[in-house]
Amino acid sequence: MDALDQLKTKYLTGVSEAKDETALEEIRLAALGKKGEISLKMRELGQMSPEEKQTFGKALNLLKAEIDAALRDKKQALHDAALDLRLKDEWLDVTLPARPQRQGTIHPVSQVMDEVSAIFADMGFAVAEGPQVEDDWHNFDSLNIAPEHPARQEHDTFFMHRSAEDTRPPHVLRTHTSPVQIRAMQEKGAPIRVIAPGRVYRMDMDQTHAPMFHQIEGLAIGRDISMANLKWVLEEFCKAFFEVENVELRFRASHFPFTEPSAEVDIRCSWQGKQLKVGEGDDWMEILGSGMVHPKVLEAAGVDSAKWQGFAFGIGIDRLAMLKYGIPDLRAFFESDLRWLRNYGFKPQDIPTIFGGLSQ
Ligand code: PHE
Repeated sequence: MDALDQLKTKYLTGVSEAKDETALEEIRLAALGKKGEISLKMRELGQMSPEEKQTFGKALNLLKAEIDAALRDKKQALHDAALDLRLKDEWLDVTLPARPQRQGTIHPVSQVMDEVSAIFADMGFAVAEGPQVEDDWHNFDSLNIAPEHPARQEHDTFFMHRSAEDTRPPHVLRTHTSPVQIRAMQEKGAPIRVIAPGRVYRMDMDQTHAPMFHQIEGLAIGRDISMANLKWVLEEFCKAFFEVENVELRFRASHFPFTEPSAEVDIRCSWQGKQLKVGEGDDWMEILGSGMVHPKVLEAAGVDSAKWQGFAFGIGIDRLAMLKYGIPDLRAFFESDLRWLRNYGFKPQDIPTIFGGLSQ
């Protein structure tokens, strides 16, 4: 019995002092392996009398179970400790700000979209969306642009390829955000107040035109919404956007098939070198197209034109970004040149709000 106690002390101490799984395995083999001390003791049972066998065998089995349990517990403990160590080692504070040299920037177009959306949200406009691949009914017909209308050519439309057997109505890359007027009214009816920022496409490319560019559509329909409301909304927008006290807008009679009357809007400004100053000077710069929504457009979208009326406008976002942030060439917007993005981009944490400031 003394021998068993000794074995017990020896192996349990060994187990508790083992530093790693290899040491533990050595102890297991020494005790419980085929030629291990406990296993050899088991063999001795054969030569014992039945009484001895019973007491000694029982004690031996108990000891074996005890060492086995200690080995298992220790193995688990070593495993947990190793995991803890690894977790500590690989610990990462995800709340830390990004390292400055690795930080991406917000593209000026995204920044301006956010700024414009913040301003109109403050005036109660919700954001609406529509597809960039648009059917020609939404892009043209519903907006009172008949098939033979010159606007279809003026817009330099990209048509989607169709196989000869394909009988679905033709689709185009939307040439403006105005089809979202129709979709929003079809979905929500009147009254309605929405803006729709997004990409638009025309076959055009030079220093101030890209085949893909961005617009923001505005639409406000109510019982008695008038040109006066349009003027106020646009003035408020320009003051907020250009961050100046006063702006002067000039409404120039124009023509769009989907508005009547129609007006292009110019803003008073001056140029100092490449830098634009808004609200003063002798220059005028065109910033958007607008007008009262044509009754035919309301009807096409399922809105009763005898009851409802309102205004719409379309602003070129890239243009606004160039003007506000003094960016000379439009094409650079879409070249993904990292040096350009670092220079003209905005910090991701600075989200434009009316109360916190649009651009810091
Ligand atoms: N869709 C017109 C364009 O792309 C702009 C516009 C929108 C004009 C809404 C009037 C009303 O040129």
